[in-house]
Amino acid sequence: MKKLVIIGAGGCAKSVVDSIVTQEWDFCGFIDRNREKHSHLGFPVLAHTLEEMPEREKYHYIIAIGNNKIRKYYYDLLKGYGLRLASIVDSTAMISSRSSIGEGCFVGKMAIINGCATVKDNCIINTKALVEHGAFVHPHVNMSTNATINGDVILQEGSFLGSASVVIGQLSVGEWSVVGAGAIVIHNVDAFSTVAGVPAVKIKQVQP
Ligand SMILES: CC(C)(COP(=O)(O)OP(=O)(O)OC[C@H]1O[C@@H](n2cnc3c(N)ncnc32)[C@H](O)[C@@H]1OP(=O)(O)O)[C@@H](O)C(=O)NCCC(=O)NCCS
Repeated sequence: MKKLVIIGAGGCAKSVVDSIVTQEWDFCGFIDRNREKHSHLGFPVLAHTLEEMPEREKYHYIIAIGNNKIRKYYYDLLKGYGLRLASIVDSTAMISSRSSIGEGCFVGKMAIINGCATVKDNCIINTKALVEHGAFVHPHVNMSTNATINGDVILQEGSFLGSASVVIGQLSVGEWSVVGAGAIVIHNVDAFSTVAGVPAVKIKQVQP
């Protein structure tokens, strides 16, 4: 069995641990930067940084951190060290055989990834999120619980969709943008902006 370590011992890790298929993975524990933390959910915190991790080449890693920038930081670090990433897909998720999922992704309970959709590396497709047919999800995206993207939507790198937000079909959500919980997005979303409401309007714009 392959040995698995989760980076991040917080809320997101609770979902990931619950979705590990134990016939496939030998889950060994966490890496968490909080030096006060020595165990989580009954599993040990093995190290507080990747550098301190003993025999780190032995393991596969998944990053259970909701913040896209921090998740990207650890992803780049893992890649830089040539370490292996694992994707964890809950057994209740429905994944089309015509879709693809990259490395280091988490797909939660009852999430759906439909035909001809693409999910690239290091994404979170959380509980009950829906990626409809033909949608394209770039790296480091987080789709929160119950978020929906309809057909052919493009989520650019690092974009974040709040819980129960909906992006109607054929739109693009810009890189490192944020969609508020419950928003209905009916126009393209600018990069580095925050949109919220029904219909969604821009409430914030930051510089790259
Ligand atoms: C949209 C969001 C990112 C804004 O957070 P923020 O940048 O800290 O902004 P603020 O809380 O200061 O709110 C700014 C304004 O937007 C409004 N607003 C915030 N979130 C909103 C939402 N989801 N829908 C509608 N309006 C919202 C606020 O009422 C406020 O309005 P005001 O200026 O008239 O008072 C945040 O509220 C949100 O929805 N986050 C998603 C959380 C989530 O789904 N997490 C998933 C965990 S699995």
